[in-house]
Amino acid sequence: MSIRFDSGKHVFLLETPSSTYVIRLYEGHVLHGGWFHRLPDWSGACVTPSCERPSFSPVPEEFEGKTYFSPDVMQQEFPVTGRGDFRVPAIEAVDASGVNGAEFRYVSHTIGKGKKPLPGLPATYADENEAETLELELADPCGPLRLTLSYTVWEGFDAICRHVRVKNTSESESVSLRSVMSASIDFPHYRFKMLQLSGAHVRERRMITRDLCPGMQAVESRRCMSSHQQNPFMALLETNATESTGEVFGFSLVYSGNFIARSEVDQFGTCRAQIGINPYNFSWKLEAGQEFCTPEAVLVRSEQGLGGMSRTYHELYRRHLCRGAWRDKVRPIVINNWEATYFDFNAKKLFALADTAASCGMELFVLDDGWFGHRNDDRSSLGDWFIFKDKLPEGLKQISDGIHERGMKFGLWFEPEMISPDSELFRAHPDWCLHAGERKPALGRHQLVLDMSRKDVVDYIEQAVSSIITESGLDYIKWDFNRCPSDVASASLPADRQMEVSHRFYLGLYDLLERLVAKFPQVLFESCSGGGGRFDPGMLHYMPQTWTSDNTDALSRISIQLGTGVVYPASAMSCHVSASPNHQIGRMTSLSMRGHVAMAGTFGYELDLNRLSAEEIAGIKSQVELYKQIRDVVQFGDLYRLETPLSSNRLEAASYGAWQYVSRDRKRSVVTVAWSYAEANAEYLLLKPQGLEADARYAIRCSPENNPPVPAGTCVSGGELMYCGLRIVNQAAYGGSLLFILEKV
Ligand code: DGJ
Repeated sequence: MSIRFDSGKHVFLLETPSSTYVIRLYEGHVLHGGWFHRLPDWSGACVTPSCERPSFSPVPEEFEGKTYFSPDVMQQEFPVTGRGDFRVPAIEAVDASGVNGAEFRYVSHTIGKGKKPLPGLPATYADENEAETLELELADPCGPLRLTLSYTVWEGFDAICRHVRVKNTSESESVSLRSVMSASIDFPHYRFKMLQLSGAHVRERRMITRDLCPGMQAVESRRCMSSHQQNPFMALLETNATESTGEVFGFSLVYSGNFIARSEVDQFGTCRAQIGINPYNFSWKLEAGQEFCTPEAVLVRSEQGLGGMSRTYHELYRRHLCRGAWRDKVRPIVINNWEATYFDFNAKKLFALADTAASCGMELFVLDDGWFGHRNDDRSSLGDWFIFKDKLPEGLKQISDGIHERGMKFGLWFEPEMISPDSELFRAHPDWCLHAGERKPALGRHQLVLDMSRKDVVDYIEQAVSSIITESGLDYIKWDFNRCPSDVASASLPADRQMEVSHRFYLGLYDLLERLVAKFPQVLFESCSGGGGRFDPGMLHYMPQTWTSDNTDALSRISIQLGTGVVYPASAMSCHVSASPNHQIGRMTSLSMRGHVAMAGTFGYELDLNRLSAEEIAGIKSQVELYKQIRDVVQFGDLYRLETPLSSNRLEAASYGAWQYVSRDRKRSVVTVAWSYAEANAEYLLLKPQGLEADARYAIRCSPENNPPVPAGTCVSGGELMYCGLRIVNQAAYGGSLLFILEKV
């Protein structure tokens, strides 16, 4: 890792273990040089974009004795609007004169060790030995704005983290920021496929690709949340890149609100890729002397295809984005009462469930929705974070103590950013919800959204959640968010700041979360938004795991989890075994398959254990035992996707998937294959594990143990496993899935 400035060539070289990112100064303009395989140095002589073809493109200056400079044909580092670059700009700002435009020139730079936090925003973190940061200062000679472009390179990661700070240096006049991206890169070609993670509630994050073509291709959220529909991420895969080979660039945004990730192909076949806050319904009044900071963009370059990119994100996010006492700890096995009881529970029922869960070896009891206010269904009580006395007359402490006595940790569900019209909180503070003037705000799941841009709201939630944590001795919190905000406006802000609310909402939420995780460092927080509606890096900074999807059907989960794993580590991905037939889609699957699929992340159960047969309980006990043996490999190992739904490129589920985790010391590995349907006389499937030591020998164990495709006691070299593969057939006897444990002997 290093950042060098070649003052002779006016070039910055940002070096990661296997790549070089080049920034070039040209007559004060800050241009992008490219992001390549690691270079000894860079002259730019062979690829410098021509300055000589500005046909129809304006030329702001003609340099004496030099060729023309048209911004429209140059690779820009942070493109502006109004000066003749007609591709999509990275910043738009309207100054006091009403003009939308700016032009920035290099002023100075600093190169320092480590990485500073971003004010009020979640971000990756590093100490002095782990990263270096370049800050480029740019100023507009004819306007009040100054930019700081920040770049962090990492020891051991092919990643660059970027953000931008915009300062209004005027002494008296404000500027209206209309759009500011976190990162922008101009590629000299568009031979890419764009990968996105798209879907819907209970059908999240399918891997979808498209060939780039001239014009704009984008994914975005306008839902005031990162959303189930699109994830704040895109990857550009060189057209011949595969899961394990070829050049891939990832763009991920550490943010939970409206975002855009876009690739624009221009007239000359260059491609501008950007990620940042969505300009939709956004503007920011930057008063004289104030600074605006964008969320962080995490850019990854891989030469080992998509899989290489994913492994970089996983390790970077696990070690440098997630925080807290649980960051490096294996996560407890959960029993959650939601799909077991829904709202219909009392202390007796909960303890009966806890007794069976404890006898099966489960470690954390989560009491889900329905314990507060007078909540018997989803029509009331959000905001009233005090115990529902009719349901739990002895209070929460009795439940918490009872669970702890059974040897398990105790956790609770909250939905703190919401408010039910039928709640004491709403009756006391009707103006605390997001709403626009006199217009009645739209309900979603019978509830309104609290105005998180208000400090009094944030203070109230902090106090309410804190007292329950303290009084009930909570070990865990599931933090839910069950509707897309609408009527995104605030009673506490003036007219010219209403378009700031969608961003201020997240600044308020992040402030609240920062206070809570600092106060309760031992509590394990799990983010949730009707499952995966806010499965994003912003939330991961405060909560090291997320409920992946409200769809707990094992087959649906194959695509959902493989897609989620494109960016997010298994330690972040919460997965439960639920009942069959499945409650969301009615499908029946074997207990064995439900277990194998849920073992791809942090593991748990959410079904009424007391309605199962003795045989099923025995099956669950062995699953719990098996998961305890493999969870460190799954949660903290390297992921290899062996078969993915990518080739089908559809929103429908894949017919099968196979994935593998390898411990970082390569001594242990877990390989899983799961089929969507059994086939008669099926074709062979050749599974080729990866990431093993070729010369080491590995003992193979198989689950289920009866009738295994590889005889018990088999021991072969890593080379044989990786190059010859495991040949298996889709058999009903396997119950729809197989899990292999490979252990170095
Ligand atoms: C949505 C969550 O994703 C579910 O797991 C459950 O907690 C419900 N909300 C409760 O209302």
